[in-house]
Amino acid sequence: MTFDFTIRHGTVVNADGAASVDIGVRDGVIAAMEPGLPVGLRDIDARGRFVLPGGVDSHCHVEQLSGMGLMCADDFYSATVSAAFGGNTTIIPFGAQHRGNALPEVIADYSRRAAEKAVIDYGFHLILANPDEQTLRVDLPQAIRDGITSFKVFMTYDALKLDDFQMLDVLDVARTEGALVMVHAENHDMIRWLAQRLVERGHKAPKYHAVAHTPLAEAEATYRAIALSQLAGTPLMIVHVSTPEAIRTIAAAQALGVPIYGETCPQYLFLTAEDIDQPGMEGAKFCCSPPPRDGVAQDALWEALKTGVLRMYSSDHAPYRFDETGKLPHGNKTSFKQMANGVPGLEARLPLLFSAGVNTGRMTMEQFVDVSATQHARTYGLYPRKGVLAVGSDADIAVWNATREVTLSASMLHDRVGYTPYEGRTVTGWPEIVVSRGRVVVEDNALHVEAGSGAYLRRGTPEPVLAASSGSGWMMGASAHAFGTYRDEA
Ligand code: URP
Ligand code: ZN
Ligand code: ZN
Repeated sequence: MTFDFTIRHGTVVNADGAASVDIGVRDGVIAAMEPGLPVGLRDIDARGRFVLPGGVDSHCHVEQLSGMGLMCADDFYSATVSAAFGGNTTIIPFGAQHRGNALPEVIADYSRRAAEKAVIDYGFHLILANPDEQTLRVDLPQAIRDGITSFKVFMTYDALKLDDFQMLDVLDVARTEGALVMVHAENHDMIRWLAQRLVERGHKAPKYHAVAHTPLAEAEATYRAIALSQLAGTPLMIVHVSTPEAIRTIAAAQALGVPIYGETCPQYLFLTAEDIDQPGMEGAKFCCSPPPRDGVAQDALWEALKTGVLRMYSSDHAPYRFDETGKLPHGNKTSFKQMANGVPGLEARLPLLFSAGVNTGRMTMEQFVDVSATQHARTYGLYPRKGVLAVGSDADIAVWNATREVTLSASMLHDRVGYTPYEGRTVTGWPEIVVSRGRVVVEDNALHVEAGSGAYLRRGTPEPVLAASSGSGWMMGASAHAFGTYRDEA
């Protein structure tokens, strides 16, 4: 039987190794991987190119209201187009519950928006800000059973923050239902206290955002979140890790066998607080939470990605425009407390890492695949359908030209943010052809699929949850003891 599609003569790279094999695709799925395959109905000659699993971006904000009530600039169309041009074939953004929202409505609304517009495949996480009885006992368990098997909670932001009691409640539901909790770990009151003192003294410029979001706030909250997860007996994903202190805390927990996982993002590898220190409001383009830190932090993050202390690299794409709809609600008078937090990165994420990581020898191509695709699929219940090139997996493929130079600029990117914090940077290495379930999505710098052609992914149990439930005895000391006393089923 002929193949619908073949990619031949390239070097195929997975997280566990590289091989010179051809790929044959039938019905959107990889049907064969071996040298010398016959030409399919459509054939791509990948000679001199690297053939990688399409990127999986498991942390991005799309068509979502922020904690401040601002709708972000990218909808499911612009976000998935931008992601595809950047070498991705799957995204997992957040259906966001705000206080007073019921989860079923949040999910129904988000599903409708995505189905009409997405051009690549997508799953959902949830953001939980309203952990009332209905959410915890009925709606969240139902959402998890329906394949939304991870959700994010915030330890900061006035409108989203959960207290420790609520965090424990949420972690407990995750444990019983088999979901993974992602946490934004920053100490709210440290930031609030610093910010208030800075603003009172007239220090309102963007650069003070990095002062208010002190590394200590991240370190304290990271430690606390891990302690809460240990008490609840639930694995935890610490997202957007930015500091050596947080890395050390995560590594210490891991050394004890506690299932704590970590993620970092381009803004922490490629920006520093100095980028925020610019005249006027320009620095707002680099403000996210946690903020970019310094060179020492960057080195520690690179190392943690390589050693696996941090298992993945996501964009945390948070698309707010440099105008009154996002970064500048009060124009030039906007204080750092009033601007939308977050930076764009869906499209630049992979080329930045490929260029600065693979092409400089700082990480191997296999490590690149691992932290940008495979670990996302494993962690969030999509493996081996996504995140790997293997017979039986979806034909989600990015063909990379490792020597092509591209200068990043807002004008060539496909999101609707209108700026990029990486403006003017030249990267080496670019995903020239992107294939999603056997459909060529991007080729010759053009889009070849329609809005709504991406598919919803009902996700399985996250790998960290499966690993923890295998009973490895990681619950330590007091919490293990407490289990005998407070659990209904104990
Ligand atoms: O500043 C950021 N990261 N904004 C996006 C929301 C979040 O906290 O991830
Ligand atoms: Zn966050
Ligand atoms: Zn985020």
